[in-house]
Amino acid sequence: MSEQIPVLITGGAGYIGSHAVLAFGAAGHPVVVLDNLTTGRREAVPSSIPFVTGDAGDNDLVAQTIQEHDIAAVVHFAGSIVVPESVADPLKYYRNNTGVSCNLIQACVTAGVRHFIFSSTAAVYGIPDSVPVPEDAPTVPINPYGTSKLMTEWVLRDTAAAHDFNYVALRYFNVAGADPQGRTGQCSANATHLIEVAIKTAQGLRDDMEIFGDDFDTPDGTGVRDYIHVADLADAHVLAVRHLIGGGRTAVLNLGNQRGFSVREVIETVQRISGRSFPVKTGPRRAGDPAGLVADASTARRLLGWRPQRAELDTQVADAWRWQQSRTKEQ
Ligand code: UFG
Repeated sequence: MSEQIPVLITGGAGYIGSHAVLAFGAAGHPVVVLDNLTTGRREAVPSSIPFVTGDAGDNDLVAQTIQEHDIAAVVHFAGSIVVPESVADPLKYYRNNTGVSCNLIQACVTAGVRHFIFSSTAAVYGIPDSVPVPEDAPTVPINPYGTSKLMTEWVLRDTAAAHDFNYVALRYFNVAGADPQGRTGQCSANATHLIEVAIKTAQGLRDDMEIFGDDFDTPDGTGVRDYIHVADLADAHVLAVRHLIGGGRTAVLNLGNQRGFSVREVIETVQRISGRSFPVKTGPRRAGDPAGLVADASTARRLLGWRPQRAELDTQVADAWRWQQSRTKEQ
């Protein structure tokens, strides 16, 4: 049955990947995780799941894993994701994102794996002319992270044109939340994402936090983003695999909730949900931040039948808060 095709998940020990492992498992797919544990955590993956420690760019290892587990689809999360780091060390991003992806795609073509799901990003749009942003908006990334992901989309496009190979590239907007059952969540060594920073401040792990600019052309002057729950995001990957197995066409899809929240609204939500107020300073804009980034995700809804279940910011913050609290207690 198509539902049960074995899936290889690269980066399955990371934040988004570990939620995808749970989602594919719940949908009945045998799952194998490949992760080099540079940023991933072994304990983020249930011990019952086959786990290969290694690099997604290691052709021999990938070929062996595909053969051993009869893999029919690859879901590729592994990569580097810190935007400022990509500016300081671009070659790391072209190597870990574009280069590794080239190797992995090559291994799939060689082994006859025809279905590929790719973690892409809204960063491919750079600073969009207007929001909501549809998939055919110009792709003009403004940092090496976004460029490295866009280049991989092009590699996929050209590979699909030349070989018996199809793919879905999913462009994530701002990923938030944690597993509603508390099994996994975000664990950044140095938090930079807004919700994680606000939660750490609420927990007293930081003295204060800063709003990066309140002079944007938005209703309250602070940046507006489209937050999507990581469990809803994971579900979209399962649907994307099903789409391809069912003969669906290659696609590039935005994943977001089509609704924007400002930095101030997010901070207020964290304060309300946590029941803790904390000092918030206002500072200058962060380089490269667009005023607003909101998805037009209508194609994913139509093509995949994707229906986010946790679209409310309150739910996303509550799940993230519960997760961070449980982790803090553990430490
Ligand atoms: N922000 C603050 N203070 C903070 C952290 C963030 O004011 O301490 C603001 C940012 O300026 C921005 C908003 O909160 O307006 C969201 O910032 P994040 O860092 O949480 O997320 P980004 O929108 O910058 O980045 C996200 C993904 C990236 C991806 C990008 C696409 O995390 O991987 O969207 O544009 F590249």
